[in-house]
Amino acid sequence: MSRKPFIAGNWKMNMTAKTGAELIEKLKPLVKDADCDVALCVPAILIPEMVKAAEGSNIAIGAENVHWAPSGAYTGEISAEMLKEYGVKYVIVGHSERRQYFGETDESVNMRAQAALKAGLTPIICVGEMLEERETGKTNKVLTRQLTVGLGGIDDITKCVIAYEPVWAIGTGKTATDEQAEETIAFIRKKIGELFCPMCAEKVIIQYGGSMNAGNCKGLMAQPNIDGGLIGGASLKTDFATIVNYNK
Ligand code: PGA
Repeated sequence: MSRKPFIAGNWKMNMTAKTGAELIEKLKPLVKDADCDVALCVPAILIPEMVKAAEGSNIAIGAENVHWAPSGAYTGEISAEMLKEYGVKYVIVGHSERRQYFGETDESVNMRAQAALKAGLTPIICVGEMLEERETGKTNKVLTRQLTVGLGGIDDITKCVIAYEPVWAIGTGKTATDEQAEETIAFIRKKIGELFCPMCAEKVIIQYGGSMNAGNCKGLMAQPNIDGGLIGGASLKTDFATIVNYNK
């Protein structure tokens, strides 16, 4: 079964309308012949400008979070329909920074993912263990919980993207080895097979994220279960294009 690779950037709380549009202008010719799907997930306020900047290119624009309710008294939040209205295709949910700093739980991740799906957006659902959990042999247990609760009640898992991001590798320069990433993503795929169906597990796109860069992307992308990357720091520069063109 062939899965189309998917490389997405996560700008986090970086860039401005000016620097963002400039980067997209530089990236457009560099990524135009990519064999993979390409997206940049950007701060909510930059979405309209970045959608405009990426117009006519193969770069899709994504958001970094979404609320679960269609509308209502949720000061500071943004609904899936609002994102959709501005041309957003993807939305990250459950990023470890949201879990660590903003009280995100597996339950709220699940609600946000369901809201995204309902609006026709593709949620990029992040899972991953902390350093202490890996060192004490709890990785698979943590991932099982994150997947069981986080994906609970989802009708069609193949409409979701999963990003495996070991927390200890994010922004640290300490990437998981190709083998570690492959082994853990193979476990995630097996778990999805159990929770949904083996055929769905074969179809679902699973990215690796955590200090993925122009130097290590080839090795990671060569792993049979790794279908792409969620790129933080390296998506703030033209290095992102090198990652997108990992097979050239
Ligand atoms: P990083 O971030 O590539 O800077 O480690 C990845 C992420 O947080 O999605």
